[in-house]
Amino acid sequence: MKKIVVLISGSGTNLQRIIDCIESGEIANAKISMVLADRNCYGVERAEHANIPNQLIKRGKSFSEHLEKIIPENTDLIVLAGFLSILSSDFTEKFKGKIINIHPALLPKFGGFGMWGMNVHNAVLEAKEEESGASVHFVTSGIDEGEIILQGKVPVDENDTPETLAAKVHAIEYEIFPKAINKILNG
Ligand code: GRF
Repeated sequence: MKKIVVLISGSGTNLQRIIDCIESGEIANAKISMVLADRNCYGVERAEHANIPNQLIKRGKSFSEHLEKIIPENTDLIVLAGFLSILSSDFTEKFKGKIINIHPALLPKFGGFGMWGMNVHNAVLEAKEEESGASVHFVTSGIDEGEIILQGKVPVDENDTPETLAAKVHAIEYEIFPKAINKILNG
């Protein structure tokens, strides 16, 4: 059984999708051993409902060191599912090749510092892009810079608002994130 640790900061709909896909077998031979949150958020309740051990870790200077102590060395995959804290380079080095993130745009476009949540969708609309999407990528010390594992595209329509675009991107995230996780864990 592969062990996944999921890190969250928000509503946790991607976390829910991972929970459901493990149950349905779409993600095979895996379990979420722990959910860690960097703030109070609804995702923690989802973990509770699914009986997954969970913990809130206060943000601050030694946040990454704290995470390092809590996450067991034998963890197979650390999944950032709407996680807003920046991890230290010591942390990303320690778990190199074992940390993945989902970003709500087609990287390398619309990534980097400040590019999160609605900022991303606003920027995509302002740039009059014809398509957007989501990217699953490995996490390195550079923000949104690690190797891309899987992307899914959605069309941007003339009358899209940041909210309608966000909804389309979320839908494609639910498709590609479990696929990417299963591929990494089971080949
Ligand atoms: C997603 O859009 C993801 O791309 C971004 O944060 C959002 C998390 O949404 N990194 P949710 O908490 O899974 O609903």
